[in-house]
Amino acid sequence: MIGSATSNGHVSITGIGCHAPERVMTNDELAKIVETSNDWIVERTGIKERRVASADEALSDISLPAAKEALEHAGVEAGAVDLVIVATVTPDMAFPSTAAILADQLGAKDAAAYDLSAGCTGFVYAIAQAHGMVSAGLANRALVVGGDILSKIVDWEDRATCVLFGDGAGAVVVERVPEGGFLGFELGADGSGGPQLYIPAGGSRAPASAETIAGRQHYARMNGREVFKFATRVLVESAEKVLDSCGVPVEDVDVYVPHQANVRIIDHARKKLGIPAERTVVNVDRYGNTSSGSIPLALADAEADGRLRPGELVLMTGMGAGLTWGSALIEWTANGKVGS
Ligand code: UT7
Repeated sequence: MIGSATSNGHVSITGIGCHAPERVMTNDELAKIVETSNDWIVERTGIKERRVASADEALSDISLPAAKEALEHAGVEAGAVDLVIVATVTPDMAFPSTAAILADQLGAKDAAAYDLSAGCTGFVYAIAQAHGMVSAGLANRALVVGGDILSKIVDWEDRATCVLFGDGAGAVVVERVPEGGFLGFELGADGSGGPQLYIPAGGSRAPASAETIAGRQHYARMNGREVFKFATRVLVESAEKVLDSCGVPVEDVDVYVPHQANVRIIDHARKKLGIPAERTVVNVDRYGNTSSGSIPLALADAEADGRLRPGELVLMTGMGAGLTWGSALIEWTANGKVGS
């Protein structure tokens, strides 16, 4: 568990952007591929449609427009970015990192760049890292992308998983600001839960072979009921811990941005925490679960709707493969900056 409050100046999100593949796949289309129905998917998950990448679309392709939008929103030139973190479980390839590919495409010359793997919690871990690097003076301007192309790693013959996931990416710029910004983080992991959500092959444990391919071992496998129980518990616990460590009562949270996995999980968490529905951002109905893309896509939606106003307290909590969880509390800022 990591709990921290910003002590070394103020660091905030100063720009935000997002991008999802054009192709929309509805539940009715899915019902033609596997034995399912629109009614089952909507009732059990709240998902109505998701975006699906084309055959030649990789993570960097959807991250680039999101990153450009975030930089433009922040009024930052790519050349001024000195740290690029891409949180994902679906990089373009094992290496080089998608962050290095993206930094090159953007023109973030000489920026440190790496990918971060923390399942669906990746974006929250990544903004915590960016915050730490910027507040410690190790970086001046960080670009953080959370994104995944899960459609390429789900088993399209497994109705228990393929209906849940989608593709998308969001990006933020993290830098110093005169006031407001991040108040605290709470991060954690329980590796004993790893087998509840994993891809059996393709790494050094079980490299790709004719057998692993025949056994469909390169696709994500999930114990949905166990992950559901874990999710409902940690979304509440992690949020309570970060609020507690920052001395902020839950009533002061203006905007709640939980991981977008399932409307039932979101409703359970917000009710238990005591956050009204109108303060909760939900877009899982349009995107499904986009893993690391989920929270930044929801943040970008809230920003576009005018729901993120300077001075408001925004609470984000993610959970996912690892099993991991993480929360961030931020006092939202307009893109006023300090320093150079
Ligand atoms: O980012 C973290 C990633 N994962 C998650 O957050 C997922 C967490 N888990 C969940 O959201 C839920 O567990 C699911 C949505 C995956 C499943 O909902 P559930 O209410 O837990 O359903 P269940 O697994 O208990 O399955 C109920 C029934 C089963 O049939 P039987 O055994 O009762 O006859 C399933 O075979 O629903 C069946 N089922 C389906 N039926 C129609 C499972 N998937 C489907 C489907 N369409 N797509």
